[in-house]
Amino acid sequence: MEPIANLGGKQMPLAETKIPALDRGFLFGDAVYEVLRVYKSRPWLMDEHFQRLARSLDAIRIPGVDLNRLRQRMLDTISAGPFVEATVYIQITRGVAPRTHVFPVDTPPLEFLFVQEFSDHYAPVRQTGAPVITLPDIRWDRCDIKSTNLLANILAAQTAKEAGCREALFYLPDGTLTEGTHTSFFGVLNGALLTAPTSPAILPGITRGLILRLAQQTGIPVEEHVLKREDLSRVSELFLTGTTSEILPIVRVDGRPIGDGKPGLITRRLQAAYAQAVAEFLR
Ligand code: PDD
Repeated sequence: MEPIANLGGKQMPLAETKIPALDRGFLFGDAVYEVLRVYKSRPWLMDEHFQRLARSLDAIRIPGVDLNRLRQRMLDTISAGPFVEATVYIQITRGVAPRTHVFPVDTPPLEFLFVQEFSDHYAPVRQTGAPVITLPDIRWDRCDIKSTNLLANILAAQTAKEAGCREALFYLPDGTLTEGTHTSFFGVLNGALLTAPTSPAILPGITRGLILRLAQQTGIPVEEHVLKREDLSRVSELFLTGTTSEILPIVRVDGRPIGDGKPGLITRRLQAAYAQAVAEFLR
């Protein structure tokens, strides 16, 4: 099925969508976005994604977006397919105006979304696990904003791919591991699940939040605490989380095995809890 878009309230095939060249998202990356997963025609963790979108809009001072209307447009686009297994991409830019750095006056934001089928190419990797590399985090100081400025993420993801890896984990000059280029990550150290606390250095991942809740429900001890690069030789498990990747075991970092080089037990338990949470949502 062809992807379907909604641009400013008009539904159309994605291939026919035209964004004006003076759009500030195009010129400056003056925009924020969200990606949602649709399971069996129902958007997963919708409230959480719209809350984060509201937070991002607020952080970059784009006012006047009717998020209830946007939510309805998204639901209508999913039904229009109808899409069953899909992803939704939503992007709000500061609008179309003559190019100047300061905010334009009285310019309405551009509201764009599209829905496309998702064939789950991560499925085999969720079983086998994936290798990753670590790279310096050269991004800015507000990685908590889901902005479309993703150049540092893209360059790192490409470096990872060229190294035969699925993802790159970013680290700060002091060795603190922050997150992946498009995923959050967790480690298991001395039986406890660790992930970086929310801060301006990481995106507050929606899947990350869910995993923290699932870990608590499942009785897995959790600590929101950073891991450093030097800790990687001591962790028994490591995994990535994200909207499309869900829970992806990491079995090697920079060529060295994690634990016994296979997906670990806590990772497996959380994968099962995740599948169960989706099944309950769909019931
Ligand atoms: N990426 N960290 C970064 C930098 C991300 O871009 C993402 C999501 C995540 C995971 O967040 P969530 O669990 O809310 O998907 C963490 C999206 C999917 C993307 O850019 O395609």
